[in-house]
Parts: sequence; structure tokens; C-alpha cells
Amino acid sequence: MQVINSIRSLRDTLSKPRRRGAKIGFVPTMGNLHDGHISLVEEAHKTCDLVVASIFVNPLQFAAGEDLDTYPRTFHEDKEKLEKSGCDIIFAPTVTEMYPNGQGIETVVDLPSLSLLHCGITRPHFFKGVATVVVKLLNMVQPDTAFFGEKDRQQLTIIQRVVNDLSIPVMIIGVSTRRDVSGLALSSRNGYLSEKERQQAAFLYQTLEQTREAIQQGERNYTDMEKMANQCLSEQGFQPDYFHICQRDTLLPAQESDLELAILTAAKLGDTRLIDNIVFEI
Ligand code: PAJ
Repeated sequence: MQVINSIRSLRDTLSKPRRRGAKIGFVPTMGNLHDGHISLVEEAHKTCDLVVASIFVNPLQFAAGEDLDTYPRTFHEDKEKLEKSGCDIIFAPTVTEMYPNGQGIETVVDLPSLSLLHCGITRPHFFKGVATVVVKLLNMVQPDTAFFGEKDRQQLTIIQRVVNDLSIPVMIIGVSTRRDVSGLALSSRNGYLSEKERQQAAFLYQTLEQTREAIQQGERNYTDMEKMANQCLSEQGFQPDYFHICQRDTLLPAQESDLELAILTAAKLGDTRLIDNIVFEI
């Protein structure tokens, strides 16, 4: 496995296998890798000849006061995990390599109709930063296929739309959410949770599942159900950010006639913000 830090060296290294017709798979990450990230690499291996994973904590997607400085940076451990998973290349650029003109870059990628919903309500900067860095990374790696976790469903939906709208020649694949035995979705931010909070955290997924069951049993008053879920989360010690029952593909509010649904939620436990979602059919 090779570790590459510069765009030029990445392009040089990939040009030969690309000319030979090797299919390149790409897994963008911010590091502090867990089994969820590794499952994306494994998925990439199933259909690609060469897998590139990037590790870059993207300042553009953090607002002032968020955890950019404290975001866990564990390159040594990440490298070992990627090596074991059979990853071929780690691309780990510096901030200057990614943003040579500084982070106040003027050219950005944004999709306001989607990026200001759900997580975008309290983090309006976030998806603009994500979409911009992902498009930059796709231009650098030029993969045939890129892999994103369904855990971050709004991110996945936005990337799919951006790639479509900008005619970027890459196939985007969503990979199902890896959870621990309690149902808690694996996340780099779970490391911020105390032991007690970790036990409470499983309630987020349970609330999603209970709501799904109620819908599948015929409940349709989505506004009331969202209110109730928020109340349950508060009673369990969360500070809910949102709990939204949506159309699966557009992530717009679900109508009674919709058959393919997604439930998206974000809630804080102490200082840690957790997100989760499920999709299902009625
Ligand atoms: P990061 O949070 O490191 O996640 C990298 C990828 O791993 C994302 O596609 C995310 O959805 C996926 N992932 C995280 N937890 C997962 C889980 N439990 N199961 C399956 N997949 C999981 O998402 C980002 O980084 C950044 O926004 C990025 C796209 C790299 C742009 O900076």
C-alpha cells in the first residue's frame, strides 16, 4: 500500500493502471477509521481493481466553534487498518495541498434546496463544504466508482445529485450502515461519548425503528409522530436537533401517499452530536 500526499504524485501513480484499463474505486474519509469505513473499502474491492482511500479532515465543512481542532486524527492506526483491508493507495493531502489559495475559496459547490434541510438547518455551511471537497477529490482521483455510507444519507443524496447535475463521470454507490451490537451506528464521534452516554445512544436507533414499525402498522400522522419521537428522545437525555419522516429519494417531507420512506434524525448527547437514519417501504 502506498501513501501519497500530493495531487501530482497521485495523478502520476494512477495514470498507468488507468491506461491499462484498471477499474479505480474511491473511498473518501476524514480518518479515525472504524469498521463502517472499512466496509466501504471492502465493498470497493468487490468491483474495482484498485482502491484509493483518502484521509483529509476538511476544514471547509466545519463552522467556527465546531470540532475541527479536536477531530480525532489517528493516521498511524488508520494506515494499519487500511493496509489490512487491502486498500492500495492512501491519499492524505495537507490543507495547503487541497486549498492552495486558502480556505476562503470562491468556487464552491452547493445545492441549497437539499443542503439547507435536516442537518443543514443548524449547520448551513456543512454540505457546501462537503460537496466542494468531494468534487475536488473526485477530480483528483478520477475514480470509476466512489463509495459513500448510507449512515450519512443526506450527504449521499447530495453527492448523487451533484455528480448528476455536473455530469461527473463516476458511479456513486451507497453502502449500508454498520452498527454495534446495541444498534448504535458506528461513527468517529462515538469516541467522544462517556460509557453512560454510549448506553443511552442506542435509543436513537430504537426510536427510528419504533417509528418505522408504527408507520408499517398504519400510522400516518407524520407531524405528530415526529413530535412524539422528539419528546421521547428528550426524555432519554438527548437534545434532539430534528426527527424527520421523508420521501426516500428526495428527502422532502413524506406525504401520506408515499411508499418509500426515510427517517432522518440528529440529536446531541452531552456535547456529542449523533446522526442516524433508516429507509424502508410501506
Ligand atoms: P467520514 O465521517 O470519515 O466518513 C467517511 C465515509 O464513511 C462516509 O461515506 C460515511 O457515510 C461512511 N461511514 C461513516 N460511518 C459509517 C457506518 N457506520 N457505516 C457505513 N459507512 C459509514 O463523511 C465524511 O467523512 C466526509 O464528509 C467526507 C465525505 C470524507 C468529505 O469530507
